[in-house]
Amino acid sequence: MKHIALFASGSGSNAEKIADYFADSTDVKVSLILSNNPKAGVIDRARRLHIPVLLFDRTTFYSTNQITELLLNQGIDLIVLAGFMWLMPADLVRAFPNKIVNIHPALLPKFGGKGMYGHFVHEAVAAAGETESGITIHYVNEHYDEGQIIFQASCPVTQSDTPDDIARHVQALEHIHYPRVVAEVLATLTTQES
Ligand code: GRF
Repeated sequence: MKHIALFASGSGSNAEKIADYFADSTDVKVSLILSNNPKAGVIDRARRLHIPVLLFDRTTFYSTNQITELLLNQGIDLIVLAGFMWLMPADLVRAFPNKIVNIHPALLPKFGGKGMYGHFVHEAVAAAGETESGITIHYVNEHYDEGQIIFQASCPVTQSDTPDDIARHVQALEHIHYPRVVAEVLATLTTQES
């Protein structure tokens, strides 16, 4: 059995899609949902899905290695960031080499980096007059949105599209592709270990 830990700071729609995707799996289990936001919508989703939730604060995350230890002790095989807003600490990245993935709501390397999240991304895409946007799924390193790209998918952007229109089209791509790409990354890990 492979174990996934999901990190989310917000609504958690991607976290729920991933949990649903593996709900009937006999090989993969979403074992834990972690959040840095006690008001995050993902907490209610996790409760409904009967997935344990762990809340943590900045001190625990950056000044101790409690989270790293806990994830190692729980035998977590893959860490999946789904709308998690904080930079991953170096010790956690080192403890899970090529075992942390993230999704970004734009076609990196454009429209990425610190401060580029949620509606700020879609406003920047619209303001730049882009003709397409999309999603990027990538491995996580110590820098925002800079890890090796695993998968990208795009959607057209028209001049009449508002940032909300772009956000809706991009979210549709996220919900279609993120669970499937997570499954592929896990399959790759399994092959590498055998
Ligand atoms: C998604 O757009 C994702 O690309 C970004 O944060 C958002 C999270 O959405 N990193 P949700 O909380 O999964 O609905």
